[in-house]
Amino acid sequence: MKPAPKTYHVKSFGCQMNVYDGERMAELMSAEGLTHAEASEADLVVLNTCHIRERATEKVYSDIGRLRKHGRKPMIAVAGCVAQAEGQEIVRRAKVDVVVGPQAYHNLPALVASAARGEPALDTDMPIVSKFGALPSRRKVGPSAFLTVQEGCDKFCTYCVVPYTRGAEVSRPWSAILDEAKALVDAGAKEITLLGQNVNAWEGEDATGKMQELDGLIRALDRVSGLRRIRYTTSHPNDMRDGLIRAHAEVESLMPFLHLPVQSGSDRVLKAMNRSHGRESYLRILDRVRAVMPDIALSGDFIVGFPGETDAEFADTLRLIDAVGYSQAFSFKYSPRPGTPAADMAGQISENVMDERLQALQAAVNRDQAAFNASTVGRRCEVLIERAGKLPGQMLGKSPWLNSVHLIGDHAIGDIVTVEITAAGPNSVTGVERLLTPA
Ligand code: 5AD
Ligand code: SF4
Repeated sequence: MKPAPKTYHVKSFGCQMNVYDGERMAELMSAEGLTHAEASEADLVVLNTCHIRERATEKVYSDIGRLRKHGRKPMIAVAGCVAQAEGQEIVRRAKVDVVVGPQAYHNLPALVASAARGEPALDTDMPIVSKFGALPSRRKVGPSAFLTVQEGCDKFCTYCVVPYTRGAEVSRPWSAILDEAKALVDAGAKEITLLGQNVNAWEGEDATGKMQELDGLIRALDRVSGLRRIRYTTSHPNDMRDGLIRAHAEVESLMPFLHLPVQSGSDRVLKAMNRSHGRESYLRILDRVRAVMPDIALSGDFIVGFPGETDAEFADTLRLIDAVGYSQAFSFKYSPRPGTPAADMAGQISENVMDERLQALQAAVNRDQAAFNASTVGRRCEVLIERAGKLPGQMLGKSPWLNSVHLIGDHAIGDIVTVEITAAGPNSVTGVERLLTPA
């Protein structure tokens, strides 16, 4: 038994959806009357975990150890995808107080109360009625906010745990999303990134009962007064429909950026991954996107060392990267996840080979990212100021293409400033304020 906590700390690992869930758990704890504290001092520490790769899982156990250093015994709640995947196993292995899955965290206050009474506190249910209705409304956010509109995945890529930890694809209702967007704008957001494991699979009825897809939702959000920028992530190639592609040309607040993971450039590997799209069909989607919006910035995810991947197949991935010219990309060494089909496949690749391939892939992506940054020099664009930089008077913001922009000037966080990009580095660009309209 532990006394009911008075202070809390939420630490999120992994994807943006976890960041969003972490914010909502923090709001829930504040609504319960707890106050925020640093992890080293809080009575309750919520570890909002990620299960996507092995190292992410191991980090949770080392974090638990760290929280218990110097004889401290905070109440520890493990939330997120490790909680969903491991359930009771975490209680057995690490003796934590609360385990709560990503679809059950609205029950966190009740679970914390049970733990304080010394009762078991584990909830990994995936209820039909969504958690969102039971959460307090949004009150204070930064200029760029996340809004989960879709959760779960029905695609079952053979390497991925998400369909097991987050459950089936579910779209949040139209009105709940618009209400939350308005609350976020009232709380200070200028930009909203719509989140979903397959965000472009979102669908739902609008206020008149008409079925809409993600582009319809984006067009409705475009009309929310005060909302200046809309982004969405992560999309699946197979759900990249014409309406959404057209929206990039037609909706001014929809930013010219698309994160569209492909994972591999080899058709054989894509098939073994059960991606249900090929190299050519992926490239044709990007052609359609670029046809309506030639200067869109493209991003992707890649896995190197999928079981059976040969040198020639990896070379196909490098050639795809050359063909696309990404403005940024995320790349990972394949990590076998328990319970997924790929974990039992023949031809698991050695760590050395994976290291070499990751290095080669990242060198290609870094080269393209630097080239993309350089290509923006001389352009005018709006920058949303997100935080102070390291130098005196320096502020940091994001361009429409999502690259980081440094600028000097008397600006406040949340300002949208028109700049001319004057210099580019590998990871960011420099902007100088111009009073003219973007060109
Ligand atoms: N091993 C390595 N990377 C993975 N991803 C998903 N599952 C695995 C895995 N088992 C990567 C994919 C996905 C991103 C979120 O994480 O690239 O798009
Ligand atoms: Fe995982 Fe594939 Fe679903 Fe993405 S589409 S969440 S990689 S199963």
